[in-house]
Amino acid sequence: MQKRLLYLSGLLFICSLLPSAVYAQHAPKPLLEEINRLTEEIEREAIDWRRDFHQHPELSNREYRTAGIVAEHLRSLGMEVQTGVAKTGVVGLLRGPENGPVVALRADMDALPITEETGLPFASTVTATFQGQEVGVMHACGHDVHTSSLMGVASVLAEIRDKLPGSVKFIFQPAEEGAFDYDIWGAKMMVAEGVLQDPRPDAIFGMHVWPFPTGTIAYTRGPIMASVDNFSIRVIGRGGHAAAPWETADPIVAAAHMVTGIQTLVSRNAELTKGAAVISIGSFRGGNRNNIIPDDVELLGTIRTHNEETRQLIHQRLETFIHNTAEAFGTSAEITIDRLYPAVINNPELVNNMIAVIEHSVGQKHVMEMDPLMIAEDFSYYANEIPGMFYMLGIIAPDHTGPIEPIHSPRFDVDESAIAIAMRTMSYLAVEALFQLRD
Ligand code: NI
Repeated sequence: MQKRLLYLSGLLFICSLLPSAVYAQHAPKPLLEEINRLTEEIEREAIDWRRDFHQHPELSNREYRTAGIVAEHLRSLGMEVQTGVAKTGVVGLLRGPENGPVVALRADMDALPITEETGLPFASTVTATFQGQEVGVMHACGHDVHTSSLMGVASVLAEIRDKLPGSVKFIFQPAEEGAFDYDIWGAKMMVAEGVLQDPRPDAIFGMHVWPFPTGTIAYTRGPIMASVDNFSIRVIGRGGHAAAPWETADPIVAAAHMVTGIQTLVSRNAELTKGAAVISIGSFRGGNRNNIIPDDVELLGTIRTHNEETRQLIHQRLETFIHNTAEAFGTSAEITIDRLYPAVINNPELVNNMIAVIEHSVGQKHVMEMDPLMIAEDFSYYANEIPGMFYMLGIIAPDHTGPIEPIHSPRFDVDESAIAIAMRTMSYLAVEALFQLRD
């Protein structure tokens, strides 16, 4: 008997190390089973929505058709719907029977200026004018999947609204990919226009398709995506004959020192154990022939960090470094830093509380803690205001052959069976979060 007790307490100890044992599910099992059934029912329709969006992609802040379809769908489910939020955004509120907690779910709706090369029967042939150029338009970042899945979640949760212990806010956001004609856009603008008020959500969830195997859900307990800030530097020297550099102030040599020197801001100044950082120069332009030292050089680059402290530090050090290096070479410099998105930082407690229900959706072995990425996402504007969780949805079919195309590739494609998984998992998350917040 004692032996058995020991064995049992040993088992309890082992179990207590597993998050799923500590954070038990609050959502009733029958309700989750009802979600499974409803997801299966709506899957075909959600795939059709996805194909329709895929065939009719719209660039950032021009998602008029998409937003119209979303708004009509949410209205048909009896939701209170706001349109024209942050230009083309749509917000739907599904009120449960009780005045309980509020959970927000977010999808982005915009496509990219890329000419599609997938050869799919529903491939896009849409073109548009972008920054003065005629471009192809394509859902090469999977936002068609995000939007159609969230419409599916809206259908599922609307069916069980009487059993929800609170309300769900559906946020369909424009311009995640950036908007070149506006000062503020996308998530930042939606937050500025009050999407997180009246009622204020207690938590928010968002996801992105990612080239992991279908069925995988990957997450982090902290930073999952980086902050992004772009900068441009103009190094101003004094041109002249390249055979007599002593008569010039050479901006090429000064800029070359800047390119190598700024790497020390990451390697010598940033506290890398607290989060990664990257500075890259993507463009170095100056001069036009062998024997002329030009008057000036232009550098374009990007800064990525996983926390606000490192981000601020690099900004300050970059300015100092550039000005002082310019001075050391007898040149001067102008630098502009464009602050774009903050890092997406998942709320660790919210994530811990949700792992059990995600495992329930896709199976324990398909749930994966991933390394944070250095790309950016404007989900950060929501997650900076309220506890947020952003996760990745696998979309590579098990029988996939050939190269795996990354997002933003003209050949990017998704395994559509991931749409049902997306709908089920996000419905689970909304329901589980509502029950946990109420209990
Ligand atoms: Ni994207």
